[in-house]
Amino acid sequence: MPGASRILLIIGGGIAAYKALDLIRRLRERGHAVTPVLTRAGAQFVTPLSVSALAGRRVFSDLFDLTDEAEMGHIELSRSADLIVVAPATADLMAKMAQGHADDLASTLLLATDTPVLLAPAMNVRMWQHPATQRNLATLRADGIGFVGPNEGDMACGEHGPGRMAEVPEILAAITAALADGPLKGRRVLVTSGPTHEPIDPVRYIANRSSGAQGTAIARALVALGAEVVFVTGPATVPPPDGAEVVRVETAREMLAAVEGALPVDAAIFAAAVADWRMANASDRKMKKTAGGLPVLEFAENPDILATVSQMTKGRPPLVVGFAAETHDVLDNATAKHARKGCDWIVANDVSHATGIMGGTENAVTLVTGDGVESWPRMSKAEVAARLAERIARALAADI
Ligand code: CTP
Repeated sequence: MPGASRILLIIGGGIAAYKALDLIRRLRERGHAVTPVLTRAGAQFVTPLSVSALAGRRVFSDLFDLTDEAEMGHIELSRSADLIVVAPATADLMAKMAQGHADDLASTLLLATDTPVLLAPAMNVRMWQHPATQRNLATLRADGIGFVGPNEGDMACGEHGPGRMAEVPEILAAITAALADGPLKGRRVLVTSGPTHEPIDPVRYIANRSSGAQGTAIARALVALGAEVVFVTGPATVPPPDGAEVVRVETAREMLAAVEGALPVDAAIFAAAVADWRMANASDRKMKKTAGGLPVLEFAENPDILATVSQMTKGRPPLVVGFAAETHDVLDNATAKHARKGCDWIVANDVSHATGIMGGTENAVTLVTGDGVESWPRMSKAEVAARLAERIARALAADI
């Protein structure tokens, strides 16, 4: 996460308030200072003591007394942060913000502030879908308020649908994006990375030599330019980038589901080395030598994630970038792949053993776009990533 920042965290009332405790820990691990504000309703779910113990500083509450005003007035408190995060943001708090009410500490801070605000809504599905909340959401968006979530899923109230507060890693990624200042600020970008593992039986699998290094470097470069990055990764050997929302998968089919779940995005970069085939006859029990004879492995074709997303008729990301890992006729194969998959750009590289690219730290790529072909000199994977991230920023700024 680039730089340490001051975050004012308003914890509203809702069962999801428990996640705010973990959020405080993770923010502090990343070096951020967290000033917590607990609403009266929030204090029904988490105690001021746990909040202040985790934040390492006092918690401000609705019972704002005169000493506080003498020490730090609410105006100053509202402006002493780089970002205000409301998690959970209740329907009531959203309504107050949309109307400009200032009848308690949280709403007063939110009205008085001149710093960016990020909301993580959490509420019952019907409350979220109610026209009043949707009106408030539209008003707040138009006011420049940022949102992360809510997610769809089972809710504590027993219902199912949108309304669950975003998970802590998603909120962290949105915070990073909100704090970052770069040409990709406000853009959501998906990156797939790493190999996939396709099970043969519970202990054996088919894999490939991808380390995830190039995909990770691209995600890091996008974060550095201010993008909100969703990083869908197979079992890679390099650790995932800081500041991105990380979704871990094993198989190609899981990767496709995670990618579809991450949409809509402004750009999607498919750097993963997805297995083209999986076992059609994977066994749910360990295959035994004693079974006699040699096992026969039957293959089935995996979904092509890049082609699926490139050819979506509704909700296709405005920029879709694929990779072509080739061992021969790099340019011809990449150009053919560009047309066949229907993506906007192909980043092609020669992964034949002699180049040392696969699993190595350097890369030599050729970029195939609708406008032509560019060969980039051999450079580090981090440099390739930075250059590609800049190209993506320029393309999105120009509305592609
Ligand atoms: N890809 C994907 N899903 C798959 C296979 C590949 O999304 N099931 C994506 C990769 O992430 C990469 C691009 O498609 O961006 C090209 O992958 P590659 O393996 O080079 O292409 P293939 O479709 O396997 O073509 P070929 O077998 O001709 O190399």
